[in-house]
Amino acid sequence: MADNCDGAAARAGGEPVGLEDVQKAAATLAGVAHRTPVLTSTRLDGRAGRRLYLKAENLQRTGSFKFRGAFNRLSALSAQERRRGVVAFSSGNHGQALALAGQLLDVPVSVYMAGDGPRVKRLAAAGYGAKVQFYGPDGDRHALAAQAAAQQGAVFVPPYEDALVIAGQGTAALELLEEVSDLDTLVVPIGGGGLISGCAVAAKAINPAIRVVGVEPEAGNDTYLSVAAGRRITIDLPDTIADGLRTTSPGERTFEILTRLVDEVVLVSEAEIVDAVTTLALTMKTVAEPSGAVGVAAVLAGRVTGRRVGVILSGGNIDADRLARIITGGVETGAGTKLK
Ligand SMILES: Cc1ncc(COP(=O)(O)O)c(C=O)c1O
Repeated sequence: MADNCDGAAARAGGEPVGLEDVQKAAATLAGVAHRTPVLTSTRLDGRAGRRLYLKAENLQRTGSFKFRGAFNRLSALSAQERRRGVVAFSSGNHGQALALAGQLLDVPVSVYMAGDGPRVKRLAAAGYGAKVQFYGPDGDRHALAAQAAAQQGAVFVPPYEDALVIAGQGTAALELLEEVSDLDTLVVPIGGGGLISGCAVAAKAINPAIRVVGVEPEAGNDTYLSVAAGRRITIDLPDTIADGLRTTSPGERTFEILTRLVDEVVLVSEAEIVDAVTTLALTMKTVAEPSGAVGVAAVLAGRVTGRRVGVILSGGNIDADRLARIITGGVETGAGTKLK
């Protein structure tokens, strides 16, 4: 992997995504998205045995980095497209991010969300004015949303297979690297791969020596297996507490970018994710959702090298009852398992 570090030339399915696209996205997001803080903790550093810099996207608008890509994508719609609106599918965070972006830009948003996903994500999307419908665990959510968009004459906005979405997500890494110099490693959660693609494009263009490490749950190891096989592998719908990372295969464009720019993909167990959410809450007084905490989980589990390590803490949208069960020591695994 990482045989080509000239991020400016990164191509996604024929469409270029380079540092300049990420910089353009940053200009579009200026004054709209939050410039999220970078959190540090000597206690956490002590446990990890290295200096950690957490880019707190749990404090981003709508509680995750997804607002960056969603707003960047909707900003590029023509006046006619804005009137017709957009349709999407989402495990939750892309849906609520699009809902807010649509509210701000006056674009009607219709989103198909996971029926078994966190309530907090569904309620937020509806609260921002999106029309929310549900997909079940067995249906083809992509086909459902793409078909609805075609029928309505609306624009389908994918959660990661889109150059503007990828560029928007990359602004998280751009900000982190602007603020913290000399990072050895950047650790990023992987679902469909939009976040890590954008971050890798930005990070490798700014610092070709930086090591970019992706993290997946053991149960949702589609990208890990795909990288090992050298082609996109499809797995069964994963049963993991990290509800935002329950993808069954990496995206085509995102896989193309990450095979060139990402150095390694590592896996974390459900128990390690639970430990990271708990540690973030109790040590750093920071609410992270399981998908958002996998980077910290990988570091605490000793799966990441480097002296100065940046971690994208990608989201904080978790139902209160689940957070309570996790931090009071309830062993919690899988998407729907409730053990307390
Ligand atoms: C909190 C959080 N982190 C990471 C991801 C993964 O992002 P991507 O699908 O771009 O890889 C998601 C996706 O929904 C998410 O919600």
